Amino acid sequence: QAPAIILGIETSCDETAAAIVVRDQFGHSTIRSNVVRSQLDEHAAFGGVVPELAARAHVTYLDHIIAQACREADIALADIDAIAATAGPGLVGGVLVGLTTAKALAAALDKPLLAINHLEAHALTARMTDGVAFPYLMLLVSGGHSQFVLVRGVGDYERWGTTIDDALGEAFDKVAKLLTLGHPGGPAVEAVARQGDPRRFKFPRPLLREARLDFSFSGLKTAVRLQAEALAPLSDQDVADIAASFQATVAEIIAFRSTQALQRFKAELPDAKPQLVVAGGVAANRTIASALSTACQAEGAALIVPPIALCTDNGAMVAWAGAERFALGVRDPLDVTARPRWPL
Ligand code: KG4
Ligand code: ZN
Repeated sequence: QAPAIILGIETSCDETAAAIVVRDQFGHSTIRSNVVRSQLDEHAAFGGVVPELAARAHVTYLDHIIAQACREADIALADIDAIAATAGPGLVGGVLVGLTTAKALAAALDKPLLAINHLEAHALTARMTDGVAFPYLMLLVSGGHSQFVLVRGVGDYERWGTTIDDALGEAFDKVAKLLTLGHPGGPAVEAVARQGDPRRFKFPRPLLREARLDFSFSGLKTAVRLQAEALAPLSDQDVADIAASFQATVAEIIAFRSTQALQRFKAELPDAKPQLVVAGGVAANRTIASALSTACQAEGAALIVPPIALCTDNGAMVAWAGAERFALGVRDPLDVTARPRWPL
Protein backbone atom coordinates (compact mmCIF):
# COMPACT_ATOMS: atom_id res chain seq x y z
CA GLN A 1 0.00 0.00 0.00
CA ALA A 2 1.38 3.36 -1.04
CA PRO A 3 1.01 6.20 1.46
CA ALA A 4 -2.13 8.24 0.86
CA ILE A 5 -2.92 11.87 1.58
CA ILE A 6 -6.63 12.30 2.30
CA LEU A 7 -8.71 15.45 2.70
CA GLY A 8 -11.65 14.94 5.07
CA ILE A 9 -14.73 17.17 5.21
CA GLU A 10 -17.34 17.14 7.99
CA THR A 11 -20.53 19.25 7.88
CA SER A 12 -23.27 16.97 9.20
CA CYS A 13 -24.15 19.01 12.29
CA ASP A 14 -22.87 22.30 13.67
CA GLU A 15 -19.15 21.91 13.09
CA THR A 16 -17.61 23.02 9.80
CA ALA A 17 -14.47 20.92 9.66
CA ALA A 18 -11.70 19.91 7.29
CA ALA A 19 -8.50 17.99 7.88
CA ILE A 20 -5.63 16.37 6.07
CA VAL A 21 -4.51 12.96 7.24
CA VAL A 22 -1.71 10.85 5.81
CA ARG A 23 -1.87 7.08 6.09
CA ASP A 24 1.47 5.40 5.51
CA GLN A 25 2.14 1.96 4.03
CA PHE A 26 1.99 0.35 7.48
CA GLY A 27 -1.42 1.81 8.27
CA HIS A 28 -0.04 4.47 10.61
CA SER A 29 -1.61 7.88 10.54
CA THR A 30 -0.36 11.43 10.74
CA ILE A 31 -2.85 14.20 11.27
CA ARG A 32 -1.30 17.00 9.25
CA SER A 33 -4.09 19.44 10.06
CA ASN A 34 -7.51 19.36 11.71
CA VAL A 35 -9.48 22.59 11.47
CA VAL A 36 -12.85 22.81 13.22
CA ARG A 37 -15.09 25.85 13.23
CA SER A 38 -17.86 25.40 15.76
CA GLN A 39 -21.12 27.25 15.14
CA LEU A 40 -21.97 27.59 18.84
CA ASP A 41 -22.34 31.38 18.50
CA GLU A 42 -24.77 31.12 15.59
CA HIS A 43 -27.10 28.83 17.53
CA ALA A 44 -26.61 30.07 21.09
CA ALA A 45 -29.68 32.31 21.12
CA PHE A 46 -31.91 29.39 20.06
CA GLY A 47 -30.80 26.88 22.70
CA GLY A 48 -30.00 24.27 20.07
CA VAL A 49 -28.87 23.73 16.49
CA VAL A 50 -31.07 25.39 13.85
CA PRO A 51 -30.61 23.29 10.68
CA GLU A 52 -31.09 26.10 8.16
CA LEU A 53 -28.64 28.38 9.96
CA ALA A 54 -26.16 25.53 10.18
CA ALA A 55 -26.34 24.84 6.44
CA ARG A 56 -25.82 28.53 5.62
CA ALA A 57 -22.82 28.79 7.94
CA HIS A 58 -21.28 25.71 6.28
CA VAL A 59 -21.70 27.41 2.89
CA THR A 60 -20.04 30.56 4.20
CA TYR A 61 -17.06 28.94 5.92
CA LEU A 62 -16.26 25.59 4.33
CA ASP A 63 -14.03 26.92 1.52
CA HIS A 64 -11.95 28.86 4.04
CA ILE A 65 -11.71 25.93 6.41
CA ILE A 66 -10.48 23.66 3.59
CA ALA A 67 -7.92 26.26 2.51
CA GLN A 68 -6.75 26.59 6.10
CA ALA A 69 -6.44 22.81 6.45
CA CYS A 70 -4.23 22.71 3.34
CA ARG A 71 -2.16 25.65 4.55
CA GLU A 72 -1.59 24.22 8.03
CA ALA A 73 -0.68 20.83 6.55
CA ASP A 74 1.56 22.51 3.98
CA ILE A 75 -0.06 20.38 1.29
CA ALA A 76 -1.49 21.68 -1.98
CA LEU A 77 -4.92 20.49 -3.12
CA ALA A 78 -3.24 19.00 -6.18
CA ASP A 79 -1.16 16.67 -3.97
CA ILE A 80 -4.15 15.10 -2.26
CA ASP A 81 -4.87 11.49 -3.24
CA ALA A 82 -8.58 11.37 -2.39
CA ILE A 83 -11.36 13.48 -0.96
CA ALA A 84 -13.58 12.12 1.80
CA ALA A 85 -16.75 13.80 3.02
CA THR A 86 -19.51 12.85 5.41
CA ALA A 87 -22.52 11.77 3.32
CA GLY A 88 -24.78 11.10 6.33
CA PRO A 89 -26.38 10.58 8.73
CA GLY A 90 -27.02 14.15 9.84
CA LEU A 91 -28.78 17.38 8.96
CA VAL A 92 -29.33 17.07 5.23
CA GLY A 93 -28.63 20.73 4.41
CA GLY A 94 -25.22 20.59 6.00
CA VAL A 95 -24.36 17.18 4.58
CA LEU A 96 -25.20 18.46 1.09
CA VAL A 97 -22.85 21.40 1.49
CA GLY A 98 -19.89 19.19 2.43
CA LEU A 99 -20.64 16.40 -0.02
CA THR A 100 -21.25 18.75 -2.94
CA THR A 101 -18.02 20.60 -2.19
CA ALA A 102 -16.17 17.27 -2.09
CA LYS A 103 -17.69 16.24 -5.41
CA ALA A 104 -16.71 19.54 -7.03
CA LEU A 105 -13.13 19.17 -5.77
CA ALA A 106 -12.99 15.54 -6.87
CA ALA A 107 -14.22 16.48 -10.35
CA ALA A 108 -11.98 19.52 -10.70
CA LEU A 109 -8.84 17.80 -9.41
CA ASP A 110 -9.68 14.44 -11.00
CA LYS A 111 -9.28 12.64 -7.66
CA PRO A 112 -11.40 9.84 -6.18
CA LEU A 113 -14.34 10.64 -3.90
CA LEU A 114 -15.14 8.76 -0.70
CA ALA A 115 -18.63 9.19 0.75
CA ILE A 116 -18.28 8.53 4.47
CA ASN A 117 -20.83 7.41 7.02
CA HIS A 118 -20.39 9.76 10.00
CA LEU A 119 -20.88 6.89 12.45
CA GLU A 120 -18.20 4.87 10.70
CA ALA A 121 -15.85 7.84 11.06
CA HIS A 122 -16.48 7.87 14.82
CA ALA A 123 -16.10 4.08 14.90
CA LEU A 124 -12.68 4.04 13.22
CA THR A 125 -11.14 7.04 15.03
CA ALA A 126 -9.48 4.92 17.71
CA ARG A 127 -7.50 3.12 15.00
CA MET A 128 -6.07 6.46 13.91
CA THR A 129 -5.30 7.70 17.42
CA ASP A 130 -4.43 4.49 19.26
CA GLY A 131 -3.84 1.93 16.53
CA VAL A 132 -6.58 -0.27 17.97
CA ALA A 133 -6.89 -3.61 16.17
CA PHE A 134 -10.19 -5.22 15.13
CA PRO A 135 -12.47 -6.39 16.63
CA TYR A 136 -13.67 -4.03 19.33
CA LEU A 137 -16.82 -2.76 20.92
CA MET A 138 -17.65 0.90 20.37
CA LEU A 139 -19.81 3.02 22.63
CA LEU A 140 -20.84 6.14 20.73
CA VAL A 141 -22.38 8.80 22.98
CA SER A 142 -22.91 12.15 21.27
CA GLY A 143 -25.58 14.78 20.79
CA GLY A 144 -27.24 12.71 18.07
CA HIS A 145 -26.42 9.09 18.92
CA SER A 146 -26.11 6.63 21.77
CA GLN A 147 -25.21 3.16 20.60
CA PHE A 148 -23.10 0.06 20.99
CA VAL A 149 -21.53 -1.16 17.79
CA LEU A 150 -19.40 -4.26 17.32
CA VAL A 151 -16.64 -3.20 14.94
CA ARG A 152 -15.24 -6.29 13.21
CA GLY A 153 -13.51 -4.52 10.35
CA VAL A 154 -13.82 -1.63 7.91
CA GLY A 155 -17.41 -1.77 6.67
CA ASP A 156 -18.20 -4.66 9.01
CA TYR A 157 -20.37 -3.33 11.82
CA GLU A 158 -23.09 -4.81 13.96
CA ARG A 159 -25.25 -2.56 16.08
CA TRP A 160 -25.91 -4.15 19.45
CA GLY A 161 -27.99 -1.44 21.02
CA THR A 162 -29.22 2.09 20.60
CA THR A 163 -31.39 4.67 22.29
CA ILE A 164 -35.11 4.30 21.83
CA ASP A 165 -35.67 8.03 22.41
CA ASP A 166 -33.13 10.77 23.22
CA ALA A 167 -29.39 10.58 22.67
CA LEU A 168 -27.29 10.95 25.81
CA GLY A 169 -25.78 14.30 24.80
CA GLU A 170 -29.29 15.48 23.98
CA ALA A 171 -30.43 14.48 27.49
CA PHE A 172 -27.55 16.52 28.96
CA ASP A 173 -28.54 19.45 26.75
CA LYS A 174 -32.21 19.25 27.77
CA VAL A 175 -31.39 18.99 31.47
CA ALA A 176 -29.07 21.98 31.13
CA LYS A 177 -31.83 23.92 29.41
CA LEU A 178 -34.37 23.26 32.16
CA LEU A 179 -31.79 24.21 34.79
CA THR A 180 -31.06 27.32 32.63
CA LEU A 181 -27.39 26.43 32.30
CA GLY A 182 -27.04 27.27 28.60
CA HIS A 183 -25.95 25.36 25.50
CA PRO A 184 -24.15 23.03 24.95
CA GLY A 185 -25.41 21.47 28.13
CA GLY A 186 -22.95 18.65 28.79
CA PRO A 187 -19.99 20.71 29.98
CA ALA A 188 -22.31 23.07 31.91
CA VAL A 189 -24.04 20.22 33.77
CA GLU A 190 -20.68 18.65 34.57
CA ALA A 191 -19.33 21.95 35.90
CA VAL A 192 -22.20 22.68 38.33
CA ALA A 193 -22.41 19.00 39.32
CA ARG A 194 -18.98 19.35 40.94
CA GLN A 195 -20.60 21.37 43.75
CA GLY A 196 -23.56 19.01 44.03
CA ASP A 197 -24.57 15.94 46.03
CA PRO A 198 -25.05 13.00 43.61
CA ARG A 199 -27.05 11.07 46.21
CA ARG A 200 -29.65 13.72 47.02
CA PHE A 201 -32.13 12.59 44.33
CA LYS A 202 -32.93 9.09 43.18
CA PHE A 203 -33.78 9.23 39.47
CA PRO A 204 -35.16 6.34 37.38
CA ARG A 205 -32.97 4.18 35.22
CA PRO A 206 -35.31 3.31 32.33
CA LEU A 207 -35.02 -0.07 30.58
CA LEU A 208 -32.31 -1.33 32.90
CA ARG A 209 -34.34 -4.36 33.94
CA GLU A 210 -34.44 -5.50 30.34
CA ALA A 211 -31.58 -7.53 28.96
CA ARG A 212 -31.30 -5.78 25.60
CA LEU A 213 -28.46 -3.31 25.21
CA ASP A 214 -30.69 -0.32 24.48
CA PHE A 215 -30.93 3.03 26.21
CA SER A 216 -33.82 5.30 27.09
CA PHE A 217 -33.21 8.76 28.49
CA SER A 218 -36.47 10.62 28.00
CA GLY A 219 -38.10 9.27 31.19
CA LEU A 220 -35.04 10.28 33.15
CA LYS A 221 -35.18 13.75 31.66
CA THR A 222 -38.87 14.00 32.63
CA ALA A 223 -38.10 12.91 36.20
CA VAL A 224 -35.46 15.61 36.40
CA ARG A 225 -37.95 18.19 35.13
CA LEU A 226 -40.60 17.13 37.67
CA GLN A 227 -38.05 17.31 40.48
CA ALA A 228 -36.97 20.78 39.38
CA GLU A 229 -40.60 21.94 39.20
CA ALA A 230 -41.36 20.51 42.64
CA LEU A 231 -38.47 22.45 44.19
CA ALA A 232 -38.93 25.73 42.28
CA PRO A 233 -37.62 28.33 42.79
CA LEU A 234 -34.30 26.49 42.70
CA SER A 235 -31.37 27.56 44.83
CA ASP A 236 -27.87 27.20 43.40
CA GLN A 237 -27.42 24.16 45.65
CA ASP A 238 -30.64 22.58 44.29
CA VAL A 239 -29.37 23.04 40.74
CA ALA A 240 -26.00 21.53 41.62
CA ASP A 241 -27.62 18.57 43.40
CA ILE A 242 -30.01 17.87 40.53
CA ALA A 243 -27.16 18.06 38.01
CA ALA A 244 -24.96 15.79 40.13
CA SER A 245 -27.74 13.26 40.72
CA PHE A 246 -28.65 13.21 37.02
CA GLN A 247 -25.02 12.74 36.02
CA ALA A 248 -24.49 9.96 38.55
CA THR A 249 -27.60 8.15 37.31
CA VAL A 250 -26.45 8.41 33.71
CA ALA A 251 -22.96 7.18 34.59
CA GLU A 252 -24.51 4.20 36.35
CA ILE A 253 -26.68 3.38 33.33
CA ILE A 254 -23.75 3.65 30.91
CA ALA A 255 -21.46 1.54 33.09
CA PHE A 256 -24.14 -1.11 33.63
CA ARG A 257 -24.90 -1.45 29.92
CA SER A 258 -21.21 -1.42 29.00
CA THR A 259 -20.63 -4.28 31.42
CA GLN A 260 -23.41 -6.26 29.74
CA ALA A 261 -22.08 -5.42 26.29
CA LEU A 262 -18.55 -6.52 27.25
CA GLN A 263 -19.92 -9.77 28.64
CA ARG A 264 -21.66 -10.40 25.34
CA PHE A 265 -18.44 -9.51 23.50
CA LYS A 266 -16.49 -12.06 25.55
CA ALA A 267 -19.15 -14.72 24.99
CA GLU A 268 -19.44 -14.19 21.24
CA LEU A 269 -15.78 -13.52 20.49
CA PRO A 270 -13.96 -15.69 23.03
CA ASP A 271 -10.64 -15.47 21.18
CA ALA A 272 -10.63 -11.69 20.86
CA LYS A 273 -9.12 -9.26 23.32
CA PRO A 274 -12.03 -7.42 24.96
CA GLN A 275 -11.78 -3.72 24.12
CA LEU A 276 -14.20 -0.86 24.58
CA VAL A 277 -13.69 2.24 22.47
CA VAL A 278 -15.58 5.40 23.40
CA ALA A 279 -16.57 8.05 20.86
CA GLY A 280 -18.72 11.18 20.81
CA GLY A 281 -18.76 14.40 22.79
CA VAL A 282 -20.10 12.85 26.01
CA ALA A 283 -16.80 10.94 26.29
CA ALA A 284 -15.46 14.22 27.72
CA ASN A 285 -17.49 13.69 30.90
CA ARG A 286 -15.18 12.70 33.77
CA THR A 287 -17.83 10.99 35.89
CA ILE A 288 -18.93 8.82 32.97
CA ALA A 289 -15.32 8.09 31.97
CA SER A 290 -14.43 6.96 35.47
CA ALA A 291 -17.53 4.74 35.71
CA LEU A 292 -16.53 3.20 32.38
CA SER A 293 -13.01 2.67 33.58
CA THR A 294 -14.25 0.79 36.65
CA ALA A 295 -16.57 -1.33 34.51
CA CYS A 296 -13.82 -2.22 32.05
CA GLN A 297 -11.43 -3.13 34.83
CA ALA A 298 -14.00 -5.48 36.35
CA GLU A 299 -14.49 -7.16 32.97
CA GLY A 300 -10.77 -7.36 32.18
CA ALA A 301 -11.32 -5.15 29.14
CA ALA A 302 -9.17 -2.37 27.73
CA LEU A 303 -10.80 1.06 27.64
CA ILE A 304 -9.74 3.35 24.81
CA VAL A 305 -10.81 7.00 24.87
CA PRO A 306 -9.26 8.99 22.02
CA PRO A 307 -8.30 12.62 22.72
CA ILE A 308 -11.53 14.52 23.18
CA ALA A 309 -10.95 16.81 20.19
CA LEU A 310 -11.12 13.67 18.05
CA CYS A 311 -14.13 12.23 19.93
CA THR A 312 -16.26 15.23 18.99
CA ASP A 313 -17.06 15.97 15.36
CA ASN A 314 -13.99 16.77 13.29
CA GLY A 315 -12.55 16.38 9.81
CA ALA A 316 -9.65 14.10 10.75
CA MET A 317 -11.98 11.23 11.61
CA VAL A 318 -13.64 11.56 8.21
CA ALA A 319 -10.27 11.71 6.46
CA TRP A 320 -9.14 8.61 8.36
CA ALA A 321 -12.30 6.64 7.52
CA GLY A 322 -11.63 7.70 3.93
CA ALA A 323 -8.03 6.52 4.20
CA GLU A 324 -9.07 3.12 5.51
CA ARG A 325 -11.60 2.68 2.70
CA PHE A 326 -9.20 4.05 0.10
CA ALA A 327 -6.57 1.51 1.15
CA LEU A 328 -9.12 -1.24 0.54
CA GLY A 329 -9.77 0.05 -2.97
CA VAL A 330 -13.15 1.62 -2.26
CA ARG A 331 -14.15 4.54 -4.51
CA ASP A 332 -17.55 6.23 -4.66
CA PRO A 333 -19.23 7.60 -7.80
CA LEU A 334 -19.69 11.34 -8.21
CA ASP A 335 -23.47 10.92 -8.18
CA VAL A 336 -23.50 9.33 -4.72
CA THR A 337 -26.39 10.79 -2.69
CA ALA A 338 -26.56 12.33 0.78
CA ARG A 339 -28.30 10.10 3.30
CA PRO A 340 -29.81 11.99 6.25
CA ARG A 341 -30.65 8.59 7.77
CA TRP A 342 -27.94 6.01 7.38
CA PRO A 343 -27.54 3.36 10.07
CA LEU A 344 -24.20 1.58 10.16
O1 KG4 B 1 -19.93 14.42 19.36
P1 KG4 B 1 -20.45 15.80 19.59
O2 KG4 B 1 -19.48 16.92 19.67
O3 KG4 B 1 -21.47 16.21 18.47
C1 KG4 B 1 -22.41 15.36 17.94
O4 KG4 B 1 -23.51 15.30 18.51
O5 KG4 B 1 -22.10 14.70 16.92
O6 KG4 B 1 -21.31 15.73 20.91
C2 KG4 B 1 -21.94 16.86 21.44
C3 KG4 B 1 -22.69 16.45 22.66
C4 KG4 B 1 -23.56 17.56 23.20
O7 KG4 B 1 -24.85 17.06 23.44
C5 KG4 B 1 -22.85 17.95 24.50
O8 KG4 B 1 -23.73 18.44 25.49
C6 KG4 B 1 -22.22 16.65 24.90
O9 KG4 B 1 -21.80 16.06 23.71
N1 KG4 B 1 -21.09 16.87 25.82
C7 KG4 B 1 -21.05 16.45 27.10
C8 KG4 B 1 -19.83 16.94 27.63
N2 KG4 B 1 -19.17 17.63 26.66
C9 KG4 B 1 -19.96 17.56 25.55
N3 KG4 B 1 -21.91 15.73 27.81
C10 KG4 B 1 -21.58 15.48 29.09
N4 KG4 B 1 -20.45 15.93 29.69
C11 KG4 B 1 -19.55 16.66 28.99
N5 KG4 B 1 -18.43 17.10 29.60
ZN1 ZN C 1 -20.69 12.95 15.61
